[in-house]
Formats: sequence, C-alpha cells, structure tokens
Amino acid sequence: PTTLNMTWDVEYILWAPDCQQRVMIGINGKFPGPNITARAGETVSITVNNKLHTEGLVIHWHGMRQVGTPWADGTASISQCAVSPGESFTYEFVADKPGTYFYHGHFGMQRAAGLYGWLVVDATAEQGEPYRSDYDGGELRMLLSDWYHESVYAQAAGLERKDKHFEWVGEPQTILINGRGQHDCMLGAVTGYHRGIDRRARTCVRGKEAQLCRDEERCLRRSECGPYCPESQCAPVVFDVEPGRTYRLRIASTTSLSALNVQVQGHELTVVEADGNPVEPFTVTDIDIYSGESYSVLLTTNHTPGSFWVSVGVRGRRPKTLPATAVLRYTNSRHPWPGSPPPETPAWDDLQRSKGFTHRIKARRNAAEAPRPPPTEQVNRTIVMLNTQTLVDGHVKWAVNNVSLTLPATPYLGAYFYGVQGSAFDASGEAPDGFPDGYDIDLPPANNSYKTRLSDRVYELPHGAVVDVVLQNADMLRHNESETHPWHLHGHDFWVLGYGEGRYRSERLNTEDPPLRNTVVVFPHGWTAIRFVADNVGAWAFHCHIEPHLHMGMGAVFVEGVDKMRELDVPREAMMCGVIKTAAAVLTPSK
Ligand code: C2O
Ligand code: CU
Repeated sequence: PTTLNMTWDVEYILWAPDCQQRVMIGINGKFPGPNITARAGETVSITVNNKLHTEGLVIHWHGMRQVGTPWADGTASISQCAVSPGESFTYEFVADKPGTYFYHGHFGMQRAAGLYGWLVVDATAEQGEPYRSDYDGGELRMLLSDWYHESVYAQAAGLERKDKHFEWVGEPQTILINGRGQHDCMLGAVTGYHRGIDRRARTCVRGKEAQLCRDEERCLRRSECGPYCPESQCAPVVFDVEPGRTYRLRIASTTSLSALNVQVQGHELTVVEADGNPVEPFTVTDIDIYSGESYSVLLTTNHTPGSFWVSVGVRGRRPKTLPATAVLRYTNSRHPWPGSPPPETPAWDDLQRSKGFTHRIKARRNAAEAPRPPPTEQVNRTIVMLNTQTLVDGHVKWAVNNVSLTLPATPYLGAYFYGVQGSAFDASGEAPDGFPDGYDIDLPPANNSYKTRLSDRVYELPHGAVVDVVLQNADMLRHNESETHPWHLHGHDFWVLGYGEGRYRSERLNTEDPPLRNTVVVFPHGWTAIRFVADNVGAWAFHCHIEPHLHMGMGAVFVEGVDKMRELDVPREAMMCGVIKTAAAVLTPSK
C-alpha cells in the first residue's frame, strides 16, 4: 500500500467566496482547501503547518474511521491538543473505505470560517468502484456550504452573551457550491427567470447591490469580464457534460447551519451512496442534504444539448438566503445559460417531503458491496439522549439529558492514555443514559423541573459492546418549536434503525436493511434510533453537526476500550497540553 503525502499551510486569507471580500481560513493560499483523492487502503499523511498566528488548529477527517489511529481524528480536546500557532502536526491514517468524504477544522467554529475541503476515496482495482458499470461519464463534485459575513469570532461571542443579549447567528448570507456563491444575487434573477424569493431578487437588481448584478449581466450578455467571469473567486460553477451519458455526482454538505435541497433542472437523480456506504438505488427529482452528510447520485444527460440549472435551496428553516445556482452545460449546447427559470426548492416547511426522502434511504441489498447487517443477538447498552435547548445561568445552551457538553483543556484520549482521567475532567461518573420518565417533550424545559448543567463527563463503552442510541427531540425554549439536528459520530459508521414521531417507547426497529451512515438527522419532536459496535479504541465525538449547536454544547463523547488505550501508538506531542503538559516529565502510558 502506498502513502499519499501532502503539506498544508493553514493561514488567514482574503477571499471573496460570494463576491465580497472577507477574511477566511484558507489552505495553501486557497479556499476551499485542496482536494484529497486517495485509494482505499492507502495511508494519508498530511503535515499541517499552523500559520494562523493567533489561534490553535486541528483538522478532522469526516467519515474516516481512524481504526488504530484515534489520535489522528482531529478533534480539539478530544483526540489531541490544538496545534499551536507556528507549530506543525502530521496526521497519518488509512483511508480504509471507498466513498465520499470531506475534512474540516474542528476547533471553535473554524469550519464556518472556511476550513474544509474534499476527501474522496476511490476503490481499488480489486474492489471495483460500486456502480461503476452504471456510469460512463465520469465524476462531478458539489461541495455545499453556507457563508456568513460576520466573522466566526463575532458569531461565537454573540452566542455566549447572557439573557436578552444572546445573539443567534441567524441565517447565512450565501449558499456556496464548491466554495462559490453570489451574495444577494441569483444568476436566475438577472436572466429574468427567478421566481423563488422574488422580492429579494428584485431588490438585488434595483437596489444598492445592483452593481454586482449589472456586472453579472454584462458578463452573461457580452462575456466581458465581471466578477462572475470564470477567473473570479465567485464565478458560478459550470459542470460541462456530454450528452447521452451517466455521471456520478458526489454531493457533500459542510454547512454551518443550513439543511439544503439540491435539484438539477429536468434531470432525475438516482441515489446510490450515503456517507460512503452503498444504498439501494432509488430515483428522485431532488435530494435533501444535512450538514455532515454526503451522497453519490447518478445523473443521465438525456436531454437535447442545452444548459440546465442546478439549484440549491434552504430546507427546514424559513429561508432568508437566496438559493445557490450552478449550471449543467452540455457540450454543443447552443446557449451557455439556461433558457428557463431555475427550479424552485420545495417549500422549506414541507417536513413530510423531507421525511419521505430520508426514510427511503436503505442499505444496498443482494450485491457484492452490500454493507454488513447490524448485530441483532444482544444489545449491551441503550442510551436515550434527550435533545433540549435550555438556559444555564442565563446562557442559551443545547443539552443532552440536561448536560451541556464543555470540553476540557486536556484531550480525553491523552487523559486515558496517560491514566490521568481524574485530574483532566469530571471522571467521577458517566454522562446520563436517559432522562426522567415524567419529562414532557412537548413542553419547554422550563416547565420540566430538571436542571441543566455544564459537564465534561463521558460515556465509557466496553470494547466490542453493541450500543443503541436513541436521539429524542423535544420542545425548545419556545413552546411548540423544535428543530432538525443532524448528528454525526466520529470513528464509526452506524446503522440507522428507524425514525418516529413524538416520544420513543421501545419501538419496532429495522434490522433488515438499515443504512450504514456516519450522520443522521433527528426531525422536530421526533426520535431517531441508531446502533453501532464500540470496537474502535479511542475517544470519539458524537454531536450535532450544526456548528453553533455544537458550540452551545450539543454533543457527547464516547470512550471505547479504556483498558486497551495504552496499546495505542499515541504521538506524545499531540497530548502536551492541560494536565499532561504539567506532569509530562513523569508520565508514562497507564498500565
Ligand atoms: Cu464533521 Cu465532529 O464533525
Ligand atoms: Cu443541532
């Protein structure tokens, strides 16, 4: 097996992802970061030089299981110390499974600052790419994100303010496709075809920001060079395709907040992969994608040569952000831009439609690449996690079983490796496995006498245990409000055993063909049940992938194989912070 080596300089860059210049976190002078394309089984070795000067840094490889290398998972306070300014760290791990993944910063809100990029793992020749015989047109890629004009520092400071001074981050300014978007303008608006968010689009064309739109128009009409010309940082993404072929379109979402809907005008999408795992193919007109998820869809260019809109709009929250657009352009198309309106995103609050899509995702069956089924003999532990938005000392927090996660100065992995749990975090007990029977999920937390606290306690799972987790959604601080949360587990894929409405009461779960995933959504006032095998020695984050929610405490930590920790090959420099740093001279791995 070979090694893929890369060296990255991570630094602040001035960039205009949506045509307005801001400070972002870039890699090697660019945004988004470099593409990683590895082969299954290959070792990926990436040296990260932190040139941020004023803040630490870690990079998480979202979807990589890190078997044997939990210290390379890139989660500050969990798997390692943040890499200090001026210092370097080399991540080394095996890209063990073909599929569609990405990487991103995992310290503070660095992901939302633009620290992310693709990580695609190709199958080996022997494995053969699943579905390869079904597409002859090659690959297209769409990395979706959302972008705020406010810095992540301002966002974080707002979230931490007390009582009525609390400032929610609000809706993003722009949706980005492959790191590009057009703030307050939609290509469709200037070409006269936009219907979706009419008023905003018209303001855009007439109002203060008209210049942008005029430039865009000029660019489109006379192909003069305006901000949307191909060499600009916010140029619209154009996918050049040949007619009469089938393409594999990889789609991933690293959004800070937004749930998205993707459609390609006049083209159906056949879903074949979710989070790096083959699913039983099904065909739809559009897909929903939540932060932390990835899909591969097959798309057949079965129209007469032309140009078609790719349209990406917000789901689940009242959109204040214009849909993002890109263009699917057939070779020999007579028109470079589509001649009809961009498709409209389905109604943002059509929850039934979102559930319908999500429920259709099932494991691939009767094929060589069908994922293994879940163990059904015995479940060693069931953890029910009540998700609430609550107040702690005037601060708005998210909590799991009324514990809002705070991260310690000493990484958990290091604490276990060196046997200093007691001084590194609250090791006097575990995080709670459930919540009181009497808790009414249809009422805000204030109506339930159950006090939230901040804690850095963890769940300790014996090596090999079969664990069920039920994520239970509930009323937020405001009555009758409940949000959608995409939960992501590090170090594992899990089986999604089912979804339901209201309160979970030992339901019938799907152990026949549950999809394997690493991220799963919990719908408002509903529950989602997953199963995984705790067979990966390490300390793993499990959290809502909405960046501000995680920042407000919506997460948990699973520690697996405590007695096997000392057998790990943990690089010493990764753990030199917190209590380990002060006691470093005398510490040896725990026995
Ligand atoms: Cu992609 Cu812990 O996250
Ligand atoms: Cu959330």
